[in-house]
Amino acid sequence: MSLSYDEIVSKSREYTFVSWAAQADWRPIPAVRAEGIYFWDANGRKYIDWSSMLVNVNIGHGNKKVIRAIQQQAEQLTYVKPNITSEPRAVLGEMLAEVAPGLQKTLFTLGGGDANENAMKMARLMTGRQKILARYRAFHGGTFGAMMAGGDPRRLANEPGVPWVVHFGDPYYYRSPLYKGRTRDEGDAALVEEIEELIQVEGPQYIAAIMLEGVNGTSGVIQGGPVFWDGVQHLCNKYNILLIIDEVMSGFGRTGKWFGYQHYPNVKPDMITMAKGITSGYVPLGGVMASPKVSAYFDDHVLVGGLTYSAHTLACAAGIACLQVIKEEKLVENAAKMGQVLEEGLKKLAEKHPVIGDIRGYGLLNCIELVKNRKTREPLSPFNQPFSEPMKKINASLAKNNLSTFVRWNLIFNCPPLIITEEQIKEGLEIIDEALKEADPYYEE
Ligand SMILES: Cc1ncc(COP(=O)(O)O)c(C=O)c1O
Repeated sequence: MSLSYDEIVSKSREYTFVSWAAQADWRPIPAVRAEGIYFWDANGRKYIDWSSMLVNVNIGHGNKKVIRAIQQQAEQLTYVKPNITSEPRAVLGEMLAEVAPGLQKTLFTLGGGDANENAMKMARLMTGRQKILARYRAFHGGTFGAMMAGGDPRRLANEPGVPWVVHFGDPYYYRSPLYKGRTRDEGDAALVEEIEELIQVEGPQYIAAIMLEGVNGTSGVIQGGPVFWDGVQHLCNKYNILLIIDEVMSGFGRTGKWFGYQHYPNVKPDMITMAKGITSGYVPLGGVMASPKVSAYFDDHVLVGGLTYSAHTLACAAGIACLQVIKEEKLVENAAKMGQVLEEGLKKLAEKHPVIGDIRGYGLLNCIELVKNRKTREPLSPFNQPFSEPMKKINASLAKNNLSTFVRWNLIFNCPPLIITEEQIKEGLEIIDEALKEADPYYEE
């Protein structure tokens, strides 16, 4: 490769589109190398990857075991069509069944959005019902049905979308009016009552599935507690509604468990969807994993759907190597441990910076919510609007100090690779500390 920093940027801007952005605003970092939790640009500048790119590079960058597994598989067999099988597919399927007890077969996809499309399709095929119930503050992918299922504002520009998704409110303890004057458990119980009412008015006989992220991700790590989850499971059982849990972001150790739903022992999903951490971004792969009951249904019913690259051989080989790394390096355990270190560090920052209104995290899926005033909880930057002045200053400070992360509205995400050490968490938090100093003058007593 011989292009300069500026050439990579200008050709990328001239000949390629960037997602979720007006094209003229795009000023990309041209990355040339990455290792562990760091990456480097074409001028040799080093950045901390504080968001594991898109919360997917769980095992960190440049892992030699995974790279070698990909190389070896590429030498032998890169691809066969989905109705021919391969050893990597067989092995990865079995490995997934081991880390998700209670689930059996996987339909492999290319990523998370198409995994969710297929899960919804399978639920509709199996139940003969049409509707999918999902949360407003959730994201399930950028494809048409998935984008509608995720009620996050990213759906709005494409509406009206598919007509069979119905949204309900969120277990947003920090902000939802439903939780005002209630404990978290009381609020969760009230929300479950509301969902049951929604089921009644929508007609239970028309509802195929409820779809939820195992731990809520880019909408702000807004997570219900055990009362919410047990309640939803109870409603699914009561009305014969399938439970689809989207583990695309919360899977593969991210939250300190193999999958987010495993924080709730009573929850028994009919299907989970996955992507991101399954290959940690080394190559694209996703999947829908089904319970024995759902798997058996498709023994004598056609699974109407397919993808040229379903169960791509190279991707499955990468998946095997990634799962081995997660196990051998005890990354699920490390995510739980480092999640605590991160949270303690953020609590200390909150003592210095009153703009930190709320800290929410499960393992290394964490975000802080910034406010102008802790009593009124007025957001430091408004919901679904361009960044406010202080938020722009925070972003500029993070960039100046080489910390790359995901910042949205008044939320800063803290989701580094699961290999991170205590020392590296300190390094990241010092940069965030510096950035929050920019916002302190905007706090209103
Ligand atoms: C919870 C969740 N589901 C689905 C997706 C979509 O995955 P993909 O971009 O691989 O289609 C994402 C992406 O961020 C996600 O966070």
